[in-house]
Amino acid sequence: MVVAMSEKPDRNLGLELVRATEAAALAAARWVGMGQKESGDRAAVDAMRVLLRTVRMDGTIVIGEGEKDNAPMLFNGESVGNGSGPQVDVAVDPVEGTNLLAKGVHNSLAVLAVSERGTMYQPGPAFYMDKLVVGPTASGKVDLDASVAENLHAIAGAKGMRMEEITVVILDRARNAQKIAAVREAGARVRLITDGDVAPALMTALPGTGVNALMGIGGTPEGVATACAMRGFGGEIQARLAPQSDAERKRVMKAGLDLDGKFSTEKMVGGNDHYFAATGITEGDFLRGVRYTRDGAVTTSVVTRSRSGTWRMVESHHRWEKLRQISDIPY
Ligand code: FBP
Repeated sequence: MVVAMSEKPDRNLGLELVRATEAAALAAARWVGMGQKESGDRAAVDAMRVLLRTVRMDGTIVIGEGEKDNAPMLFNGESVGNGSGPQVDVAVDPVEGTNLLAKGVHNSLAVLAVSERGTMYQPGPAFYMDKLVVGPTASGKVDLDASVAENLHAIAGAKGMRMEEITVVILDRARNAQKIAAVREAGARVRLITDGDVAPALMTALPGTGVNALMGIGGTPEGVATACAMRGFGGEIQARLAPQSDAERKRVMKAGLDLDGKFSTEKMVGGNDHYFAATGITEGDFLRGVRYTRDGAVTTSVVTRSRSGTWRMVESHHRWEKLRQISDIPY
């Protein structure tokens, strides 16, 4: 039976999705610091797949894992969920920040994002996009087409902060050098990251993280997942495709994707009902990583739902004995 997203009684799918991000994080956590990003990713993919089968949704993956890195896939077009619930688009990122996982450093996450069927942007061969992400306070006050300095003034004004108190997170890549220089020039602070721009994007929307904006060119799939989260938090992402090689540009043009247009949060994920779940794998700035206890492990996750505007931090205490009774995932 096909069920519309708005049908009552209403369920919060996010609370089911978080079990899948928890499973992915628990499986990936066995590979933290082992220097083997593919193995960690594979473990997370397998675990997420098992748990996704139990989620009451009729989902189609529109953003799968691994196209850019030839990583193991929850592949595009794959059906996920138990098929009985709402028809939805799904973006999966079982390990966001595979290098962070392999090195055992901050902010690798297991991520899932869901929106109504047909509402999620399908980046296909577009691997990179230029992003500007701000939280709810500065939402509606920035413009990707304005200068970096103008946007920083707008953010500082909206937040009632001085320019030198604003922190912008940027991926440390040569392609972002101009942006990094422009932020410094304007008098704000730059925090460079080696990988994983979803965690700092979420931090722009969460209170007390000290991160006020994310700027620069990063992954397109991560941008769409971020858009889903921002629909829940009331924050904003603006973006534009930014192919990083001739081959990527050709593939993007061949696919008929809009190379020039500016994407709003709503263009990246339309509709009215969006869910986002992320569980910390390694220790993080706002999400604790997987911590082992005598007989199990503890996970921390964030779950958002746009319709209600609710976001939750979820701490779960897992017991291996029980988990092994319900699945044979090699945690
Ligand atoms: P993984 O695919 O290894 O998880 O990397 C994720 C990521 O660091 C994103 O957070 C970021 O948007 C993108 O890769 C940056 O791409 P690149 O490392 O190619 O510059």
